[in-house]
Amino acid sequence: MSLLDDLADVGRAAGGGYARHGFDRAEAELREWFREQAGRSGLDVETDRNGNLWAWWGEPGRDALVTGSHLDSVPGGGAFDGPLGVAGALAAVSRLRGRGFTPARPFAVVVFAEEEGGRFGVPCLGSRLLTGALDADRARALRDPDGVTLAEAAERAGVDPARFGRDDVALDRIGTFVELHIEQGRGLDVPVAVGSTVLEHGRWRFSFTGQGNHAGTTILRDRRDPMVPAAGTVLAARRVASTVDSRATVGRLVPRPGGTNVIPSGVDLWLDARGRSRDVVAEVTAAAERAAAAEGCTVTVTQESYGGTVTFDPALRERLTGLLDAPELATGAGHDAAILAAHAPAAMLYVRNPTGISHAPEEFAEDVDVEEGVVALARALESLST
Ligand code: GLV
Ligand code: MN
Ligand code: MN
Ligand code: MN
Repeated sequence: MSLLDDLADVGRAAGGGYARHGFDRAEAELREWFREQAGRSGLDVETDRNGNLWAWWGEPGRDALVTGSHLDSVPGGGAFDGPLGVAGALAAVSRLRGRGFTPARPFAVVVFAEEEGGRFGVPCLGSRLLTGALDADRARALRDPDGVTLAEAAERAGVDPARFGRDDVALDRIGTFVELHIEQGRGLDVPVAVGSTVLEHGRWRFSFTGQGNHAGTTILRDRRDPMVPAAGTVLAARRVASTVDSRATVGRLVPRPGGTNVIPSGVDLWLDARGRSRDVVAEVTAAAERAAAAEGCTVTVTQESYGGTVTFDPALRERLTGLLDAPELATGAGHDAAILAAHAPAAMLYVRNPTGISHAPEEFAEDVDVEEGVVALARALESLST
């Protein structure tokens, strides 16, 4: 908890919660904090080709046991999503050291870059680049809302974007990955659970184009207002998701140019769909096209990220549920562990969140549950390191 307390004032958002985004100043401060803390714990920190930080306990090597998470947040995010898994990993290392334990295989704590995609739109950016799930050219060209490219932002943060891309050296080193994380829904009534699955999920951008015009002089039948089909798309997303037991969210919608007395010329909205996300987006796209045509507008739909359903390694799950006497928990939240799961056995440990709220300032964990989570992580690492 004292490690998490160190971070309490870094990157606070004006509207509440945190704004800590890939390669921005707040994230840089957090990364610096990590370097210092890891150094204090006797770990050697290196940055990989994609801006992920690795803190090695002993010599780096293949088939390593790796734990960690991310330090960035969503806009207005809580204090635990990400930092719990990083601070928890450092605390678990201290705990293991205090018990005189040294790992029998290479061991690292990792901090993945821009897990939330809060700045450049693609979640799990660092782990997707590392594994080759995201094309390096596409990544370099991603832009934040101010038009800054990922390549520019990385360069400013001291990471050479020319080196982005699948990193077989780093990938070969990952033998097993375990990520400690705050539970993000109302699924958990015991302190700790082991992750079972992650829902299929993706993000799609819907760009509506109409005709910018005067809000006072343009009679309704003359309008080609892209906000109207955009609004219809939000409602269609809710309707479609509810019929196929899925989840659909429009958390960001940007009218251009954005004036109260201006009919927008364009509207961009981003659909986050989970569960049967491809089925959802197909139906929502059809609804958006109908709504756009009815208003004399056009719409284009672009997939910005996608991940299929992930089932974590059954043998690792069985080992951890037995060792920790913990239940399993499925989640709709994405994680770097779910990206790595395609390459190495990976597991999630979730810590109870009594508010059931996440990606918002109310996200919370009791101190005793955080401690149980760290103890569980330390036990898991000890068991897996032999
Ligand atoms: C990441 O936390 C996500 O599931 O969006
Ligand atoms: Mn998150
Ligand atoms: Mn997270
Ligand atoms: Mn005027």
